[in-house]
Amino acid sequence: MIDINKAIEGLDWNRAPRGLYEPIEYTLASGGKRLRPTLTLIAAETIMNGGLLNGDAIEHVLPAALALEVFHNFTLLHDDVMDKAEVRRGRPTVHVKWNDNTAILSGDQMLIEAYKLLSDVPADKLPQVLKWFNEMATGICEGQQYDVDFEHMSQVSIDDYMMMIEKKTSVLLAYAMKIGGYIAGATPEQQEALYQYGLHIGLAFQIQDDILDVYGDPKTFGKAIGGDILCNKKTFLLLTALENADAESKAELLQWLMATDCDKEKIAAVTALYNRLGVREAGETVMEEHTAEALAQLDKLPQNKATEQLRELAEQLVTRTK
Ligand code: IPE
Ligand code: IPE
Ligand code: MG
Ligand code: MG
Ligand code: MG
Repeated sequence: MIDINKAIEGLDWNRAPRGLYEPIEYTLASGGKRLRPTLTLIAAETIMNGGLLNGDAIEHVLPAALALEVFHNFTLLHDDVMDKAEVRRGRPTVHVKWNDNTAILSGDQMLIEAYKLLSDVPADKLPQVLKWFNEMATGICEGQQYDVDFEHMSQVSIDDYMMMIEKKTSVLLAYAMKIGGYIAGATPEQQEALYQYGLHIGLAFQIQDDILDVYGDPKTFGKAIGGDILCNKKTFLLLTALENADAESKAELLQWLMATDCDKEKIAAVTALYNRLGVREAGETVMEEHTAEALAQLDKLPQNKATEQLRELAEQLVTRTK
């Protein structure tokens, strides 16, 4: 498969004003897993029966893969402002290294750059891809709004949470798969299987992200640990804890939710409650269910080396540490 990192490095940000483009360069050079473009490329390979993407085929799929990664990175700039997150990929976030205005405006420009890349999708495929890309983008905005709304709400159910993460995280993975497959010539049934695979690995992916936010190693994970606890984020862990707790633990948890200005103590106390209530294990069980659902979708696709890669990927995401 082609080297997606190289393709991203090949994007040229050497433009003025530097205040706008340098943060974009900084963000795209900071790595990350490149999960979304990888999904797009493997989805295309699966449909082309494992045929290695080369020549024309790459030119057809690569613009969408790049657009999705640039778009994803745009969402991170704004998300880190909204979540007051100070570290990402082991480096200061853009709003910390520069300021909020920079994160907003460079983020806006990245969104525009994503659409510029997308415009190179083959003309016969572009109208449909554009429609799906827009559905995905709106889904993320809606999901992000629910995410911040939930921070201030006391009654949020696990179902509400699953709806929210489907929007903020899963639809991007789902459309990354579907768009890759569609450009490679997938049938409507195959497109749907690709979409559902992405949707289910996305749900598992976000639950694991919630788990790593508490239990991850900051060096490997690249983000500060406990950030979700500090902003009372309605994560899978918090909602499950509220649901499973006896009266005493629940009162203690609610007390901590109101606490401010005691960051270290709050993270330690809430983590201790999570440990006592076994919420991590509950999350892992739900992740396994969604992984199984994702794997089942793959049976509807041509069976080849690329499908095998998708199988491995789904299984690896459940135990990922970064
Ligand atoms: C971060 O996505 C945002 C979430 C949906 C949790 P990733 O964990 O894929 O971030 P990078 O691109 O690898 O840094
Ligand atoms: C990810 O949610 C959703 C988007 C970035 C759109 P998080 O807020 O959990 O992502 P991280 O943990 O900051 O990467
Ligand atoms: Mg967020
Ligand atoms: Mg965040
Ligand atoms: Mg997170």
